[in-house]
Amino acid sequence: MRREEKKVALVTGASKGIGAALAGYLLGQGFVVYGTGRNPQAPGGHTSSAPTMLRMDITDPASVRNALAQLLEKEGRIDLLVNNAGLHVVGVLETMPLSEFEKCWRTNCLGALLVSRAVAPWMKKQGGGHIINISSVGGTLGLPFQGAYSASKFALEGLSESLRAELGSFGIKVVLIQPGDIRHQDCRVESPPPEEYAEVYKKVMRVAWDDEEKGYPPERLGPLIMKILAKKNPKLRYGFGSAFQRAVPTLKRLLPWGLFERALRLYYKF
Ligand SMILES: NC(=O)c1ccc[n+]([C@@H]2O[C@H](COP(=O)([O-])OP(=O)(O)OC[C@H]3O[C@@H](n4cnc5c(N)ncnc54)[C@H](OP(=O)(O)O)[C@@H]3O)[C@@H](O)[C@H]2O)c1
Repeated sequence: MRREEKKVALVTGASKGIGAALAGYLLGQGFVVYGTGRNPQAPGGHTSSAPTMLRMDITDPASVRNALAQLLEKEGRIDLLVNNAGLHVVGVLETMPLSEFEKCWRTNCLGALLVSRAVAPWMKKQGGGHIINISSVGGTLGLPFQGAYSASKFALEGLSESLRAELGSFGIKVVLIQPGDIRHQDCRVESPPPEEYAEVYKKVMRVAWDDEEKGYPPERLGPLIMKILAKKNPKLRYGFGSAFQRAVPTLKRLLPWGLFERALRLYYKF
């Protein structure tokens, strides 16, 4: 396929983790792939089988504009945006520095909005496109000691519902993916708990980190995204991860809150 016939994809946060795996997968599927990071380096080096990496801080409108201008100057179109860049802030809500709470929200919610706003005019002009926002199971329930993260992903969920409604009539399909634990070391920002929380924090986070270590392989996200792109009318939300973690949002919806809360406490052993 000639380059000008290929679909153009932009994956934010492709310098490592899930984004790097996804960018590599999309390249293999014949996309022209651009990845972003604040300190971009092509995962696997600058070869024809690596995505073109752009420097972009998704929380900075000027940085988003500059990076996108480079992509559009070269390709003249954009078919798929995956808002994947994210920040995992962990700590006690009562005491964590507000700057960390805010950074988490700016990255996980505002950042996705800034990049979506930058690509929307181009997708409208082309008559359509896909914006896929990587949320989390943590965006469907408030996880203990991951409140900043959960709050930011709940915000991303609401933002995506509104964006989908607003952009749908222009042929732009906005979709959310809610991964459970994914097997790889993410770059978390963790504030130490105050003494009175230390014991329960340790118990809860031991379960959380164990889950992440045993998590789902990030390589499986690519096939899910291809499945979504192939659908004429994709759903708003797709689960991704173990069968148990995919079932959590449904369990939360169906179970009485008291029962769900008891199950959560049992699970996290507190
Ligand atoms: N890992 C999991 O178990 C899991 C579970 C559920 C959901 N998720 C979600 O999946 C997505 C990817 O997670 P991951 O675990 O692969 O994360 P990760 O390994 O920590 O990578 C995060 C990526 O985001 C980029 N990034 C962070 N802040 C940025 C900013 N301000 N501007 C631009 N890029 C920024 C980082 O690039 P630079 O540092 O180079 O800027 C990096 O490429 C996130 O949205 C996360 O919330 C992950």
